[in-house]
Amino acid sequence: MSLDKYLAALQHELNEYSYGNEPKELYEPITYLMNLGGKRLRPALVLMAYHLFKDDWQSALKPAMAIEVFHNFTLMHDDIMDEAPLRRGQPTVHIKWNRDVAILSGDVMLVAAYDLLAEAEAGNFKKIFKRFNRTAAEVCEGQQIDMNFEERGSVSEEEYITMIKLKTSVLLGFSLELGGRLAEQPEGVVNHLYDIGVNLGIGFQLKDDILDVYGDPEKFGKQVGGDIIENKKTWLMLKALEMSEPDSELHRWVAKESFDPEEKVKAVRAIFTDLGIKELAEQAMTAYFVKGFDGIAKLNVPVERKATLKAFADYLFDRDW
Ligand code: IPE
Ligand code: IPE
Ligand code: MG
Ligand code: MG
Ligand code: MG
Repeated sequence: MSLDKYLAALQHELNEYSYGNEPKELYEPITYLMNLGGKRLRPALVLMAYHLFKDDWQSALKPAMAIEVFHNFTLMHDDIMDEAPLRRGQPTVHIKWNRDVAILSGDVMLVAAYDLLAEAEAGNFKKIFKRFNRTAAEVCEGQQIDMNFEERGSVSEEEYITMIKLKTSVLLGFSLELGGRLAEQPEGVVNHLYDIGVNLGIGFQLKDDILDVYGDPEKFGKQVGGDIIENKKTWLMLKALEMSEPDSELHRWVAKESFDPEEKVKAVRAIFTDLGIKELAEQAMTAYFVKGFDGIAKLNVPVERKATLKAFADYLFDRDW
């Protein structure tokens, strides 16, 4: 089973699904954002996890879509918070429409996510619902901590990992967990799937942080350097701050209230490069991916059944967009 089959089926279902029509200012931004594409990795994880155990993976499509719609809702609001101009190579919703539209369209996307989740045909629905809610609350917790860190001078590596685990990894963990729950697997298996997703997710966010500084703008689809402009305490930034004297050029850039964004990005990137930060970040990223790969290797299912999941994890590790 190839990844393309899952993605094609997901795309078909997404095209069929109606979020609503009127007022158009509410619904158009949803189809706009959803149709901009994206890697669709979270719903793919749901389907792959289900398919580890059961053949009728199409029955998991609606709950898988719920996760993708939820993810896109978080992006719509994240782009407001991060003042991001670009998403998937196109203007963000709050730029193309306005901030209020992005808030409300996002809200109704969260409702659509619940509507899709309610279509789950198997598994213990109450448990799935509670776990979804816990995950969603954790994503919000991570987002708030991410913003709190912008105002902080220093952040430890441990604090950073806790933050990205919440804002990003728990949703990847829950995606695999959901596939397992829909396939009615025991708690031990479900928890093992969750841990795989969390480790891959930490690696995934570290890669996102690296690409935010070093990515190819054409491929990345987001504003390269956005994290530097916003003083995000990414792994790269916190390590670089740790390695620099308090009166260093880096500390001065971080403290500056007004600056030319391009100039700041160029200068900070050069400082990172001098310090060898990219290589260090890649080492940290690799360690988490390896934990995820080990988890996949230890999954007690025939090797051929987990080949697609392993190939997908490899692709996330290697991606440059
Ligand atoms: C972006 O997620 C937000 C992060 C957690 C880094 P993705 O990189 O999965 O975004 P899309 O859906 O592929 O655009
Ligand atoms: C966002 O992290 C995670 C969520 C959307 C919850 P980022 O702010 O790094 O994501 P991007 O880089 O904008 O996609
Ligand atoms: Mg953000
Ligand atoms: Mg962002
Ligand atoms: Mg990012």
